[in-house]
This record gives sequence, C-alpha cells and structure tokens, in this order.
Amino acid sequence: MIQLPGKSGSCWTATARPTAYPALEGSIHAETLVVGAGIVGLTTALRLCEEGREVVVLEGLRVGGQVTGRSTAKITTQHALIYRHLIDTLGFDLAQDYADANRAGATQIREWALAFDIACDLEEKSAYTYTQSPARRGEIEAEAEAARRLGLDADILDRAPLPFDTAGALLFPDQAQFNPAMYLTGLAEAVTARGGRIFERSRVRHIGEASRWRAVTDNGTVHAEHVVVATNMTVKSPVGMANRTQPRSHVAMAFRVDDPLAVDGMFIGIDDPTRSIRMGRDAEGPFLVALGPKFNTGQDGDVARRFVELDNWAKANLPVGEAVWRWCNEDYDTPDRVPYAGTPDPEKAPGFHIAAGFNAWGISNGTAAGMMIAELIRGRSSHWQKLYDPTRPYPEDFHRNGDSQSIVAGVEDIAPGEGGVIVRGEEKIAAWRDERGELHAVSAACTHKGCTVTWNNAERSWDCPCHGSIFAADGSVIHGPARKPLPPAQL
Ligand SMILES: Cc1cc2nc3c(=O)[nH]c(=O)nc-3n(C[C@H](O)[C@H](O)[C@H](O)COP(=O)(O)OP(=O)(O)OC[C@H]3O[C@@H](n4cnc5c(N)ncnc54)[C@H](O)[C@@H]3O)c2cc1C
Ligand code: FES
Repeated sequence: MIQLPGKSGSCWTATARPTAYPALEGSIHAETLVVGAGIVGLTTALRLCEEGREVVVLEGLRVGGQVTGRSTAKITTQHALIYRHLIDTLGFDLAQDYADANRAGATQIREWALAFDIACDLEEKSAYTYTQSPARRGEIEAEAEAARRLGLDADILDRAPLPFDTAGALLFPDQAQFNPAMYLTGLAEAVTARGGRIFERSRVRHIGEASRWRAVTDNGTVHAEHVVVATNMTVKSPVGMANRTQPRSHVAMAFRVDDPLAVDGMFIGIDDPTRSIRMGRDAEGPFLVALGPKFNTGQDGDVARRFVELDNWAKANLPVGEAVWRWCNEDYDTPDRVPYAGTPDPEKAPGFHIAAGFNAWGISNGTAAGMMIAELIRGRSSHWQKLYDPTRPYPEDFHRNGDSQSIVAGVEDIAPGEGGVIVRGEEKIAAWRDERGELHAVSAACTHKGCTVTWNNAERSWDCPCHGSIFAADGSVIHGPARKPLPPAQL
C-alpha cells in the first residue's frame, strides 16, 4: 500500500463549516431547478432569488465540495496566456467579451462576499504568470500587450517574486483569492435566506420532459419550467458535450509554512511541467497550495507518483514544511479554451440550460456563466451568449478516449489498498482490496457510455478514461457525466 504525505482531502472543504441540507423526498415544483451546488449552480440560484424567483437546487453530494471546493480558487482575469490567443483565433470582439465576462464574474464574487458578509478569507492579491525560460519571455510580452488592448491592467516583470529563478512574469494587480468552499457555503445561506430551497445528497438520476422539465432523484421528483444543468460536466444536454470537451486532472497539495507571506501573490507557470502556487490558511495557521501539471483523467495508472513528485518539487523549491492535505481535482478543456454555457436548443428544449468546459478557470468564468443563465431565465439577452455558445462548431478530433490503465491478470495481483480490473470474457470487473485483505468488486464498465475504468491509487477511486466520470471504491458516483453507480459484481 502506498503511503503518501498529507491527509486525503481539500484544504478548503476541510476548513468550511459542514452543510446539512435535507435530501429531497416526494414531488415538488419550482420555476427553476438548478442541478449542482457548485459555483455555477449557486450563482445562478442566487441571482434568481435576488429577483424573487422560485428556485430549487439539487446537489448530489454536499454544497461546494466538488470541483469548486477543490480548486486553487484564484479570482482573476489572468488565465495564464489567453488573450493573445483569443484575439488571434476568435477575433478582438470575442476576446473583449471574454475579458469583460471574467471581470464581471470576479467583481460579482467580491460584491457578494462583502454584501452577505461571507467569511471566506477573501483577500486581494496580484496574479503572476511566469516562465523560467528566457526564450518564452516574448510570449509574456505579447500577452501583456493583448491584455492592455482589452482594457486589463497588465505589467511585465524581469522575474516573478518567487524563491526560485524565473525569466520573466506577467503581472495583473488587484486580483483576489479566497476559500471557495466557505464562499459557496455562504452563497447557499444567501439562497435559502431569499426563499430558495436546497437539497443535498439528492443526485439527479434522470432528467426528462413531461408537461415541463422533470428531474428524478432516488426519493423525489422536481417539476420546473427551467432546468439548469450545472454539474461541471453535463449529466444531460440537448447537444452532446462529451466530444466537445476533454477531462483534465491535477494533483494538489497544501503544505504548512511559518510565514503567511512565504510567497506573496498567485502564481502560474507556463513551462512544462506547469505549476500553480498560492497561500491559504486554516485555524492552525498559514499553508501554501501547490498544483502539479495536468493529465487526462483515468489515463494515468499511477497518480500516487504525481503526489510524490509534487511533494519533492515543493520541498526543493519553496520554503514549505510538511504536507497537510492532498487531493485530485478535475475540470474540462474545450478546443478554443472558452467554456460552453447557455440554452443549447431553445426551439426543441426551451428552458434547458447548461454550463461546462471551464478549462480550469471556472471561478470567474463559472460566475459569469451563472449570471448569464439567470439573465436568460428572466427572458433577457446577454452580451456573452455568442462567446459561450454551447452549439458552436468544434474539431471532431479534439476529444480523446483512453483505455483502462489497471488491467491485471487476477485478484492475486491486487495488493491491500490497491485496485485492478479483471477481464473475464466479455465482463470486466473492478476489484479493490482493503487493508484487511478483503476484496470488493463492482462492474468496471462506466455507467455513462461503458468505457473501462482505471484505479486511482492516490484517491482510491475508479476514474473513467473517456469523459471523466469518477466513482468511489464502492462504485457510487463522485463526478459525472455518469448518474448511476457502478453495480456490484461477483468475483
Ligand atoms: C486543479 C484545479 C484548479 C483550479 N483552480 C482554479 C482557479 O484558481 N481559478 C479559477 O477560476 N478556476 C479554477 N479551476 C476551475 C474551477 O474550479 C471550475 O471550473 C469551477 O469550480 C467549476 O464549477 P462548477 O460549478 O461547474 O462545478 P462543481 O463545483 O463541481 O459543481 C457541480 C456540482 O454538481 C453536483 N452534481 C454533479 N452531478 C450531479 C447530479 N447528477 N445531481 C445532482 N448534483 C450533481 C456535484 O456534486 C457538484 O457539487 C480549477 C480547476 C482545477 C481542476
Ligand atoms: S465518462 Fe463517459 S464512458 Fe465513462
């Protein structure tokens, strides 16, 4: 069994107050049903509640505990190098919309945190995109020029204020960071204070059309005129999202530090392997959060090795002590690096709204998407509809499925604490052995579209190498697009 540094879990969700909303029981009605209590879902819900609209939120697990609560939670319009790329590929006007949408999203977060007095450790910080390669300095300069043309405040530095050598950095002043799990807990309280109803542990297993939209959980049903699928990856959509997106995962760790300004700012590198760094804190004091490079979800058979590499890198390059927390997180890339959000088919599926594909910049983009969807539900148009259009063309070869990385010959190859996939004729069985040596088996066929899952040896989860569904060791769903658990199997 692999011993990894730090406790398993996100430093943000570990410090947020646990929520205890009830599970849905029975049949209810609302004008708008929001599926998913992440940043997109709760932003949409709160915008609607502020206007006195009737909203129900169904959350499969707990408020804020998934992608948002496991992010690095930088609230910034600086998305590494993006504006030069957007101007060159989509044109100046859409690049301007992207800058404006993200600026509005970032502003909304700050305004709500202040207005609702949400204790979420929100603090102003500068954002830095750095390179260690003198050959890439020109890209930093081009990005600064593009950002300024779009009205963003951008500067170029000879080196980033980091304790290791860099060859240049892009600086965006007056950005911010926060604890995203605490923020979402606060948003949820603001939603319910304004009449919204939130149900947790209420996974939507089915969404269909009756006289209006109908969403079914294990113990209840919601009927609504509008449904917002804010599940990070859509669990249902009139236009398929699977081939328009590519799931990407990262490993993240929080290390104890003595100095709350061990690094001062929010940093992202553009070299390979990419790193992301920021500070945070909990009741015991400050910590430093560092992120490893991205990899395709379910396409790496040894995620634990990534934690060991990140731990070694952080200890060699940053003034950190021991790791306190470690976790994986996933988001979805899109071919043009812009999210998909809106009403994909207003003719055939009126009132059906989605948001996905945040390219790991969904704190500001996700807030903007939630704001936009709320506008559409109110019957108004939005400047950002064209930018986020979920039906825009995409290259057919963007999405890449993968194979399971965990095939073993038999159960004797599965050590305590490990998992493996056993092939028996047509059947594939995902088995893991607990510390006592007992085996637990579920089907290895992902309940989304049947791909064979991979054992994540750090998280102890079954990760799908096709569209990024994640299942707990017992087969229950952690992350969609899957809605149903991996059923039990016989060994
Ligand atoms: C490693 C990493 C670091 C990142 N750092 C940053 C950053 O610094 N800044 C930034 O801007 N962005 C960052 N991002 C991106 C950002 O975190 C995400 O894009 C954003 O949080 C996505 O929000 P969401 O609401 O779509 O997803 P979530 O927060 O996951 O919310 C979706 C919710 O839907 C629920 N759900 C799913 N299926 C169902 C169902 N069937 N029924 C009911 N509920 C369901 C889930 O349980 C979940 O709570 C990062 C991403 C990653 C992977
Ligand atoms: S997530 Fe699509 S097949 Fe598993």
